[in-house]
Formats: sequence, C-alpha cells, structure tokens
Amino acid sequence: MKNIKILAIESSCDETAAAVVVNGREVLSNVIASQIDIHTKFGGVVPEVASRKHIEVISAVVKEAMDKANITLQDIDAVGVTYGPGLVGALLVGMQYAKSLAYALGKPLIGVNHIEGHICANFIEHKDLMPPFICLVVSGGHSFIVYMKDFGDFEVIGQTRDDAAGEAYDKVARAIGLGYPGGPKIDKLSKEGNAEAIKFPRANFHEESLDFSFSGLKSAVLNYLNKMEMTGQEINRADVAASFQKALVDVLVDNVIKTCKIKGVDKIAIAGGVASNSTLREAMIKEGEKRGIKVLFPSPVLCTDNAAMIGSAAYFEYINGRTADLTLNAVPNLKLGER
Ligand code: KG4
Ligand code: ZN
Repeated sequence: MKNIKILAIESSCDETAAAVVVNGREVLSNVIASQIDIHTKFGGVVPEVASRKHIEVISAVVKEAMDKANITLQDIDAVGVTYGPGLVGALLVGMQYAKSLAYALGKPLIGVNHIEGHICANFIEHKDLMPPFICLVVSGGHSFIVYMKDFGDFEVIGQTRDDAAGEAYDKVARAIGLGYPGGPKIDKLSKEGNAEAIKFPRANFHEESLDFSFSGLKSAVLNYLNKMEMTGQEINRADVAASFQKALVDVLVDNVIKTCKIKGVDKIAIAGGVASNSTLREAMIKEGEKRGIKVLFPSPVLCTDNAAMIGSAAYFEYINGRTADLTLNAVPNLKLGER
C-alpha cells in the first residue's frame, strides 16, 4: 500500500503548528510556535493578538515542518487543516494558508475537527491502538467522553454542561494567583498540598447522565477563598490547589470508568492538554488496574495543541474519502461528530 503523507496545519488557539505525518501514525516533523509568553501578560488568550501572531509566523512554521520532514511539497498527498472549533480569526489564518497551498499544489484539502485531532494523538503515541476504546478528551475548551467504535466513527457519551476541565484549572489558578496557563502550575503546586484538606463539591447529575459540570466546583473554590479572606484566615494555596484538583479528577475518573462498564470496553485513551496532568494519570491508571482496564496517554507534547494530531485525524478522513473543497470555512463552534 502507498504511504500517505499529510502536511497538517493547526492554528485554532494560541499555537501555530505544522507537521508532516505518514499513514496517520508516523510523525516526520512536528513544529509548534507557542504564543504563551505573549498571552501570559494578559492572563489568558487575546483572540485578536493570537490571529496577528499566527499571520506573522505561519510561513516559517510550515517551512520548518517541511525541512525537518526532509520532503518537498510535491511529495505530500494532501493538506489537512483544523477548521473548528476554535477562535475564528485564528482558525482563518491556518485555513487560508492550507487552502492556498492545496490549490497551488493541486492536492486535496482535508478539514479536521480539532477535538478529533486530540483523540488521534493516541494513534501516534500507541502505534497498535485500535478501536473500540473510550476516550476522555479534556482540554482548555472541551471535556468529552467519547466511545470510539471505529476510526472516524464515534459516539459522544458525556460532555461538560458549562466550563471545560482546563478552563476550571485556569480560572482557579488565576484566583490563587498562579497565572496562565494554570493547569501545569496547579499540577505542580498540588504536590505540596493535602488533597483532603478542603471538601469541594463533585457535581452529580441523575443516574444515567455521564455529563460533567465544573463551574460549581470553580465557584466553591472562589467562595472558599473569599470566606477565608473576609475572616482574616490564612490561605494555604497548595491545599486549595490539591483539593480542587482531587474533586475534578475524581469526577473525570468516575465517569470514564462507568462508561467502560456500560460499553463493555477495556481500553481508555486520554487526550487534550489536561491529559498531561500527573494526578489524573495516576488516578486513572490505578482505577484501571483494579478492573483490568488498560489506560493510555499521549506524551505531553501530543496532549497540548499540535499539528501532528491533526495530520493523524486528516489521514483517517482521507482514507474514508472525506476531502473538502476550497469553499471550506472556519466553524468556531464546530461540534464533535459534526461534518
Ligand atoms: O489542548 P490544549 O492545549 O488546548 C485546547 O484545545 O484547549 O489544552 C490547554 C489546557 C489549558 O487549560 C491548560 O491549563 C491545561 O490544558 N493543561 C493542564 C496541564 N497542562 C496543560 N491542566 C492540568 N494539568 C496539566 N499538567
Ligand atoms: Zn486543543
């Protein structure tokens, strides 16, 4: 069978990224230009700034990805690009670049759902991973439990009804003065704290629902901080971080394990920025081991936004004959499973 080489571009948020991926699994190059330093000054991603920065660096990022892959543009079989969900101005930069390239080269264009990309990061990391499995996608903008029946064929089992897991991390981190992005900082600080020190709530819906809600947890943390300040008591930030994190991770693990039971699946793959969280990893592996469930994670560079994962997802679209034409537009609120 011919090797399919895809040049993939990702610009949905604050990372400008390009990668060359072969057959959805083998990464020839994976270049990421992060804007984190710029947005840190503002305490979060400023959409207009993100778009401008993408424009400045996209050509150089794509060139570097091609150079590192050591192939020419003529060698690629298709151009894959994230078309949603994400910030519209940011998405448009990558899309215009990808469309122009596809047009100039006369190669097919493939639109990729960013969340599907996160899931596919696991196909790169774990070369023999095959569906079915349960995937937990937890990032700054999304929290989903997905039943992956086959490549490109899945069912959404649960999702957040308000804040995403990463968003809760970022908001709580800001409240305790840790800065942006908050996830890695809370992860680190929690190691010095007591996760049982403060009882924060775990949102539970009715029995059948496997949805999440993190805004109540976030409010509970803010209320706690307020109360401590008002009564002049000292705040132990490490205890707050560890207790918040435990409440959030408990719910993620519970719902994913329940899903495995319901679907009779013995494999879990975690994806998205929050998948690099050490407490989530440990808890998920521990609960999996008790039940004979295998738990997989991508390495941290494939957890946060990157284009290799987009190249993997694009491959599975390509082999299923799902290519786009030049009318493809950015869809900022693209749903998982929507095409
Ligand atoms: O997947 P990603 O790069 O972007 C989105 O698609 O949203 O995820 C970024 C999110 C941020 O909210 C960040 O705080 C969180 O992932 N994150 C973490 C960790 N590393 C990144 N959250 C918890 N623990 C971490 N170690
Ligand atoms: Zn992402």
